[in-house]
Amino acid sequence: MRVIITGAASGIGRALAERLAACALITGSHQMLLTDRDSDGLKTVAEAIGPNAAICVADLSTPNCGDEIVSAAIAHMGGIDAVVSNAGIIAAGALVDLSPADFDRIYSVNTRATWALAKAAHPYLAASKGAFVATASMSATQPTPGLGFYSSSKAALLMLIRQLSLEWGKDGIRCNSVSPGPTYTPMTKAGYDDTARRAQRESMIPLGKLGMAEDVANAILFLISPFAGHINGIDILVDGGMSNNLMPATGGGTGQKASN
Ligand SMILES: NC(=O)c1ccc[n+]([C@@H]2O[C@H](COP(=O)([O-])OP(=O)(O)OC[C@H]3O[C@@H](n4cnc5c(N)ncnc54)[C@H](O)[C@@H]3O)[C@@H](O)[C@H]2O)c1
Repeated sequence: MRVIITGAASGIGRALAERLAACALITGSHQMLLTDRDSDGLKTVAEAIGPNAAICVADLSTPNCGDEIVSAAIAHMGGIDAVVSNAGIIAAGALVDLSPADFDRIYSVNTRATWALAKAAHPYLAASKGAFVATASMSATQPTPGLGFYSSSKAALLMLIRQLSLEWGKDGIRCNSVSPGPTYTPMTKAGYDDTARRAQRESMIPLGKLGMAEDVANAILFLISPFAGHINGIDILVDGGMSNNLMPATGGGTGQKASN
């Protein structure tokens, strides 16, 4: 498979690249175009993978990032079977305090870049009957304190993917997303290295533990693989069951006796 991965220098994107490389023992080797704005991080990941991985340092906040990345992918791989639009950023702050510049920054990376990449990759994905996967977030469907631009940009991303699945089904391209819940990566490390915060968060997760980058990477691997050949327009939550924990967190019941 010939795969583009954004945000490949760190966290989930890096875990996906490493897992794809490891799968080669079973499925044959995969070619990858790894992209990120962090050039040192990219080099480290690519060197560990070897010649099947090429890198492209690109800033997803720029309008032409899609063309730039797809050109590099075609130069390295000659075609594209899967695109994983994984990179994302967080802007913390109350909506009354955030600025138009914050809005543009967050939405350009978390939402617009996925469309730009999809648009640029479309002819190649149509040729290969390929797959497109975006990394959204549990916050796309759960309003999240202090992360109003993040959650709303990811909600827009979810609908963008569903829309793409509708428009591109006729071309044989499958478009899906994954939504991580709390996941231990460099993005969240500082927060979850606080043991009290981590314990509080894990107490909300029925499986009793944070997700790891590999947990999310595995779901993405499934979606880009032939095993997901008839799956189009869905979102896979990788949250350890946390989104089902709202009512249990209230303590359950109303204190009333059964009245039947
Ligand atoms: N970690 C979590 O708890 C969690 C939860 C829900 C969703 N997510 C989503 O998962 C995805 C991956 O996050 P992660 O946890 O692996 O984070 P991470 O910070 O470890 O990795 C994100 C990567 O994206 C790159 N990036 C950021 N802005 C960029 C830009 N403008 N141009 C190019 N590259 C850029 C960073 O350099 C970094 O390498 C993100 O979309 C994030 O929103 C993460």
